[in-house]
Amino acid sequence: MKEKITIRPLKLSDVDSCLSMINSLVEERAMISIQKKMTRKQEEEYLKKTLKEVKDKKHVAFVIDINGKVAGISGISKTDSETRSHLGDIGIFLKKGVRGMGLGEKLFRKTMNEGIKKLKFKIVHLTVFANNKTAMNLYKKLGFVKIGTIKDGFKYYGKYGDCVIMVKYV
Ligand SMILES: CC(C)(COP(=O)(O)OP(=O)(O)OC[C@H]1O[C@@H](n2cnc3c(N)ncnc32)[C@H](O)[C@@H]1OP(=O)(O)O)[C@@H](O)C(=O)NCCC(=O)NCCS
Repeated sequence: MKEKITIRPLKLSDVDSCLSMINSLVEERAMISIQKKMTRKQEEEYLKKTLKEVKDKKHVAFVIDINGKVAGISGISKTDSETRSHLGDIGIFLKKGVRGMGLGEKLFRKTMNEGIKKLKFKIVHLTVFANNKTAMNLYKKLGFVKIGTIKDGFKYYGKYGDCVIMVKYV
């Protein structure tokens, strides 16, 4: 069967494919902030919270949809602080098997551009594990600059690792 690939907004009915994607990344130890498998209830709550933030104009979230199943997700959000409402915090992950084909870059661009347009961000920032070269290459390609490193800023499966902070001025 020919694959139908689209980038579209996140929706609540994505819960099962999001759950299976996130748990596959946890199993893989893919250098993301989640270290424990999620339950369906936790994932459903997370999606409901995210979609409420989308409705409240605090979050923009897109997914890569392959034949109706989520294969990647990206979100950009603001904090509750009014003084930082021009700052967007962005993140992304794709499941194994669909990486390295240009989809991550497309999804990231879409999320960032929609965030800037809809939520009026002036600065986009992110954190990344210092040894995640693939992700850092993507961010550098899209104009992000490394502004610093928090030594031992991540604790991942009991071991400390450096956390890189990257920023892009729009
Ligand atoms: C990081 C991630 C989002 C990149 O998405 P992707 O679809 O794999 O990347 P793309 O194919 O769109 O490539 C975009 C750029 O990323 C970089 N990149 C991609 N694969 C790479 C690899 N294997 N090695 C080094 N750089 C790589 C390159 O700069 C590439 O641009 P180029 O093709 O012009 O060289 C994806 O690999 C992923 O989800 N990884 C696991 C989770 C993760 O690390 N998330 C980020 C946490 S901060």
